[in-house]
Amino acid sequence: MAKKIFVGNYKGGVGKTTTVFEIGAGLAKKYEKKVLLIDLDPQCSLTSICMQIAGISFANIKPEETLNYAFDLYGENLKETSRLQILKDGIGSMYDYIKNIIKSIPVHRQLNFIPTSLDLKNSRINDLADRLSVSKNSIISIACLLSEIEKKR
Ligand SMILES: Nc1ncnc2c1ncn2[C@@H]1O[C@H](COP(=O)(O)OP(=O)(O)O)[C@@H](O)[C@H]1O
Ligand SMILES: [Mg+2]
Repeated sequence: MAKKIFVGNYKGGVGKTTTVFEIGAGLAKKYEKKVLLIDLDPQCSLTSICMQIAGISFANIKPEETLNYAFDLYGENLKETSRLQILKDGIGSMYDYIKNIIKSIPVHRQLNFIPTSLDLKNSRINDLADRLSVSKNSIISIACLLSEIEKKR
């Protein structure tokens, strides 16, 4: 069972991204844990750091390999679905989409990340947070996405 650690705060420049990366790298390197970094921030700083270390250019990441693409997709698809149904059936057939958007890139030995892209609909600062707070399905779909990743990776 994976442990999930969330770091979030509206205030910018307080060390969120640095903390997430360092904790992830520390767990992977020092404790040999398998770590997945998930960048939910449309500023994409964590993605930038991981990509720089992995020697990969933003231009080589396809939109459909990013988390905000999957999130937008869920948003569209789950708008009409009831909370009960999502909880009961999970995202089920959506797993093929997830498989395609998960880009595993070894940075430190066991450290992987899911990129976020600036080019997409929810790339406006705070848009993702706004949507998470107003849409009942958004928060559930993120939880479902994480549990699918946890089960099938
Ligand atoms: N412990 C620290 N000591 C000194 N500088 C730090 C520390 N943590 C982060 N920084 C620097 O502070 C700035 C903001 O950090 P960052 O992690 O990007 O914040 P956030 O994600 O909250 O916007 C960066 O330039 C980073 O290098
Ligand atoms: Mg940041």
